[in-house]
Amino acid sequence: MSATATVPAFEEEPDVHEEIDACVSRWSGQEGNLIMILHEIQNHHGYVPREASLLLAERTGVPLARIYEVLTFYHYFRLVPQGRHNLTVCNGTACYLKGGARLLAELEKRLGIKEGETTEDRMFHLETVRCIGCCGMSPAVVVDKETHGKVEPNDIAGILETLRQQETQPDEPANPA
Ligand code: FES
Repeated sequence: MSATATVPAFEEEPDVHEEIDACVSRWSGQEGNLIMILHEIQNHHGYVPREASLLLAERTGVPLARIYEVLTFYHYFRLVPQGRHNLTVCNGTACYLKGGARLLAELEKRLGIKEGETTEDRMFHLETVRCIGCCGMSPAVVVDKETHGKVEPNDIAGILETLRQQETQPDEPANPA
């Protein structure tokens, strides 16, 4: 079995039966209801599980192909769960020319996933974006919400190690008032 997966196994997906029924009845007969239901599902899970799309097709009679047409048309929708840490490699022209592709390759190699995928343990999600507006810092990688500029392939191991260490550290106790 591969070390990673882009889509969780069927049995790992959340139980969405009641949720879909509630959404469908809430938006029943309203214009644009398919998109609103999909928004609700994503807001709840952080992505649109395959199981949810299957049930939605069954409950509404909307063909599954039409649901996936909508899901893939709007970049907002996600078909795979996000990681606890999101790594976004800038793929814009300036970053590409300064070696952005090598950063992506290094991340893919170290994480064992491709762009758009999430590691099986859901720790990391990897994606690319077209210019984040920091071309002077190219090549850039956004790690969660922090932008790292002038990143070298050699820096990637350290970035991942820092994130892994954060995962193993217990939360700081709250300051007493
Ligand atoms: S091209 Fe990467 S920040 Fe502009």
